[in-house]
Amino acid sequence: MSSVDIPREQWATRVGFIFAAVGSAVGLGNIWRFPFQVGQEGGAGFLLMYLLFIVLIGFPAMLVEFVVGRRTERNPVGALKEIGSGVWQYVGWIFIATGFVILSYYSVVAGWTIRYTILGLQDGYIADAAEAEGQFVTLASGLDAILFHALFMAAVIAIVAVGIERGIELAVKVMVPAIIVITIGLAIYAATLPGAGEAYSYYLSPEWGVIADNWQSIVPAAAGQAFFTLSLGMGVMITYASYLGEDRNLAEDGAIIIGFDTSIAFITGLIVFPILFTAGVDPADPGAGAIFVSLAAAFGDLTLGWLIGAVFFGTVAIAALSSAISLMEVVVSYIIDERGISRPTAAIGIGGAMFLLGVPSAYDLVLLDLFDLFADQILLVLGGLLLMILVGWSLPDLAVDELQRGIGDLGSLGPAWIWAVRIPVILVLLVALVLGILDYYEFLTGPFAEWVGDQ
Ligand code: PHE
Repeated sequence: MSSVDIPREQWATRVGFIFAAVGSAVGLGNIWRFPFQVGQEGGAGFLLMYLLFIVLIGFPAMLVEFVVGRRTERNPVGALKEIGSGVWQYVGWIFIATGFVILSYYSVVAGWTIRYTILGLQDGYIADAAEAEGQFVTLASGLDAILFHALFMAAVIAIVAVGIERGIELAVKVMVPAIIVITIGLAIYAATLPGAGEAYSYYLSPEWGVIADNWQSIVPAAAGQAFFTLSLGMGVMITYASYLGEDRNLAEDGAIIIGFDTSIAFITGLIVFPILFTAGVDPADPGAGAIFVSLAAAFGDLTLGWLIGAVFFGTVAIAALSSAISLMEVVVSYIIDERGISRPTAAIGIGGAMFLLGVPSAYDLVLLDLFDLFADQILLVLGGLLLMILVGWSLPDLAVDELQRGIGDLGSLGPAWIWAVRIPVILVLLVALVLGILDYYEFLTGPFAEWVGDQ
């Protein structure tokens, strides 16, 4: 069945589209992943490299996804079938697979944020780092984790089932302003903490020696983070742009979206590091759980920390929700467009399947890593890379033509954009893919093999 059988939905307003894209971009990537990457990669040097990649790689790549979505008015699978020939037709499937895998464990982590919001309200944060760690291990896997994973997924299903205009658009119009206001408020609070000065200099003054010594790990980490945080590489921006009715200036929209996303990530650093420094927690503590353990321990230490913590984790949960709906929408739009199944049925079916796929991640943290590394460092980069090669090298005229709709003649900016996609974007993705595969191999033969041995 083809898409012409069902009238396609559209965003009601320009703000609706921008908020939805900002909602997708601002998520666990900004508030959970970003600070622990900064910590792991040594502070300000990473921040600088990250900002560079956002402009150099993120912006051109986002425009590619936008033009593909708006031109085809299709889900990623349908879009790639339309613009690609031969094997290129199947690239859309990678996006669907990526969305599927990412949301399965993203929902588990989002479940932790709900759990930690409640923990704050129960005044349950523990200042002692070792005990906080133990608490995290208990809450982050097992029955507790599965329960909150289910709760979160149910919320995602409920919003996506209602539809673009009355579901997603309405939800993000409430969620996104709330996230912005609360993060700014928390940053102001954090500025009053005694550790703020030390934290700012760690976060904001790059040490060139650190960058020079560690660029091999900083560069791919910063590039990967730029892609992940902007929701690129899995068809979200293709899907969201496919619901654009009129001709808008996509470059302007993209710049606004990127501006918001980058600001929120940056401000999050201004919240997290003063809190960690004040509580005497080392920001370099690596790992996905670190931000939960260290922040919860810090909140356990601060006056009124329970309240600040509940507001902080609550905001993270909302940010995760507005990202998760975009991930589910990628798959749901495919089912609606190409299979002619109704939206609520598609949302429930897909959400249910994603929940089941996430259960192993909620069962053991090693399995969460297994999914996360595979989706994040391989699938996402691979899908993004193939799309950039296809559009940059085979369809430059179509891309420039589509971008000009709503802007007018781009002049030499058109070719400049295409060349940015052809060389720097593709090169960075290629390097990231190779490093990602090597890293995954190490994980499979190291921690994962050990884990299997222990079972
Ligand atoms: N951009 C989101 C974040 O920063 C993550 C995400 C990636 C969401 C891809 C949707 C698609 O958390």
